[in-house]
Amino acid sequence: MNALGVDLVEEILALKKAKNAVILAHNYQVKEIQEVADFVGDSLGLSIQAAETSADVIAFCGVHFMAETAKILNPAKTVILPDLDAGCSLSDSCPADALENYLKDHADKNYYVIAYINCSAGVKALSDVICTSGNAVKIVNNAPSNRNLLFVPDQNLGQWVMEQTGRPMELWKGACYVHVEFTRQSIQRIRAEYPDSPVVAHPECTTAVRMLADEVCSTEKMISFCRNHPSPSFVIVTESGMLHRLRREMPEKTFIPGPTDACACADCRFMKRNTLEKLRDALFTLSPAIELPEKVRARAELPIRQMLDWSA
Ligand code: 13P
Ligand code: SF4
Repeated sequence: MNALGVDLVEEILALKKAKNAVILAHNYQVKEIQEVADFVGDSLGLSIQAAETSADVIAFCGVHFMAETAKILNPAKTVILPDLDAGCSLSDSCPADALENYLKDHADKNYYVIAYINCSAGVKALSDVICTSGNAVKIVNNAPSNRNLLFVPDQNLGQWVMEQTGRPMELWKGACYVHVEFTRQSIQRIRAEYPDSPVVAHPECTTAVRMLADEVCSTEKMISFCRNHPSPSFVIVTESGMLHRLRREMPEKTFIPGPTDACACADCRFMKRNTLEKLRDALFTLSPAIELPEKVRARAELPIRQMLDWSA
């Protein structure tokens, strides 16, 4: 890191101390942010950290729905997101008013709504329980057996969970724009190039891609799978930031990015909006901060607490 970079990191660490802040970063953040964070993890790990922190300020280096989840759990704390435009295509694919209308139009089904955490506070407030990719199978197995299940917003994760649990669910037709870029052809090509490297894919990938994988799991479980597996190399089919986390944890192993048809690896443009400069500015000004109407926040907290109870 150059002299300017070192100054920036020092500034961030000093601001963090002065404001009694904790820096939480998702596995898809750029290397520099992962290295300055107090905790780096998947959506489940980050939610648990957010629920347990005693810091006054949570600097959330991830995307909007993640920072929003931290605010829902911590209404009295200041939660900052370095770039408010760090959104999520999956969350956008299920607007709260569309879900509300769907539930009204299908009131006869009396749906039990399971929402993947990649959704807005408004969608969480319409849901019965939240899940992440790390606990989705457990959550669906716990859902009441006498209710029709509606899973929102990711049809690919939902399809995978149905395969794992055998529970029929109706699926909202949303998708992550990054994970659907991996194709059967692009993964077949990399498998042929590295035939001895297990392929590890995120459940947001399409069925065709998941069928080619040796393991399908959340970003955090990718760490334990690769650590416990005897292979010295792996093909990682998810967003590119994950490679940094894996290489940092297991420098002795080789991690090959899963390619798309167009690129050698896949970047989430939303995750990549956060930078060290924006993190420094956000800590300095304590903005942009996440704010929510109390009615929405309080209702959205219930299904998140249910998830945390069932994940314990
Ligand atoms: P994880 O919870 O597995 O980290 O996934 C979050 C995400 O946004 C995947 O695209
Ligand atoms: Fe959303 Fe996909 Fe980016 Fe994850 S990788 S934050 S699901 S757009």
